[in-house]
Amino acid sequence: MTADPDTAVRGALSYRPVRPEELGICTEIWRISINDYTRRLNQPDLEAETGPLMRLYSHLQATDPERFVVATHPDGSEPGEERIVAFAAAVQRERLWFLSMCFVRPEIQASGVGRALLDEVGPDPGAANGEDGVRATATDSAQPVSNALYASVGIVPRVPLLNLIGLPLRPDAFPALPSGLTPVPFDVLARADHDGLAATVDALDRDALGVAHPIDHAFLRKEGRRGWLYRGSDDSAIAYGYATEAGRIGPVASSDPALLAPILGHLSGAITPRGAFAVWLPGTADQAVVATLRAGFRLEPFPILLCWDRPFADLSRYLPISPGLL
Ligand SMILES: CC(C)(COP(=O)(O)OP(=O)(O)OC[C@H]1O[C@@H](n2cnc3c(N)ncnc32)[C@H](O)[C@@H]1OP(=O)(O)O)[C@@H](O)C(=O)NCCC(=O)NCCS
Repeated sequence: MTADPDTAVRGALSYRPVRPEELGICTEIWRISINDYTRRLNQPDLEAETGPLMRLYSHLQATDPERFVVATHPDGSEPGEERIVAFAAAVQRERLWFLSMCFVRPEIQASGVGRALLDEVGPDPGAANGEDGVRATATDSAQPVSNALYASVGIVPRVPLLNLIGLPLRPDAFPALPSGLTPVPFDVLARADHDGLAATVDALDRDALGVAHPIDHAFLRKEGRRGWLYRGSDDSAIAYGYATEAGRIGPVASSDPALLAPILGHLSGAITPRGAFAVWLPGTADQAVVATLRAGFRLEPFPILLCWDRPFADLSRYLPISPGLL
């Protein structure tokens, strides 16, 4: 009896952690597999420039080496020679397991490889899925396969994440920072008390995102993102926010949802981007979405969907780093 093609495909594959020198192959699979379905939607191909993605992959591989897994197929040339045909990457940040990437070469899709990779990079039994463990990811709203696959294991689409691009042509559309709220650059605070600043940022993250992720803040600083702490008149830490000359705004964590729009106004005024700004805004941060559109930013197609198995963050007060890293 011949095995059905899916079993044959799956049966021929091996799974193992990626090697740092193979990350370039993964960016190629990312580009090929996305272009494959977006062409069917008459969308332009992704640009070839994958520098930022390569740096993200290096970060994911460095922080969670056992959760960055490739599927390989013997390529038939020499014994032991193999070809990477798919990969997935996830990170564990305290109780939050976040699936950052899952991509399968088009020619072997719909054969169970994506589901197998999900198992390979899944949360350690007992770790994330204890009492308060959470699983989450971000998907393309135009891609039913990934949404169905993750929802089939309980990670269900919940909130749109909007990609807004542009310049504050009408900066007054952003409300001013309330009097008594003072932005202080991270580098000034870090010089005075590095550990104190790190503890303050962790506390703001735990309050808004539900987990602390100092290792990702270290990556943001390596990426040249500049941070500000927003202090109240009693010197308490109310929020933080980042922006870069490269144009990325975020993450932002605030103890008050009404401060997101004024903070976006401050960040988009404090930095002059080389090109345009880009910011990821959850639909739940509605006042910030309205102000950013009124300031002149444009909405990019298609919204991303934030998915989870149980609630963990207050996305009316937190703006993620990107769909690949919250
Ligand atoms: C998304 C992706 C990783 C999934 O991997 P895959 O190997 O094709 O998926 P699998 O065959 O393992 O599983 C897909 C499952 O979804 C189900 N499915 C697919 N489309 C569906 C739909 N429209 N409604 C309901 N279920 C659907 C399939 O039946 C299958 O379920 P099964 O295992 O119970 O049969 C892969 O298709 C891919 O790389 N796509 C392009 C890039 C991409 O979108 N990546 C995800 C970014 S968020």
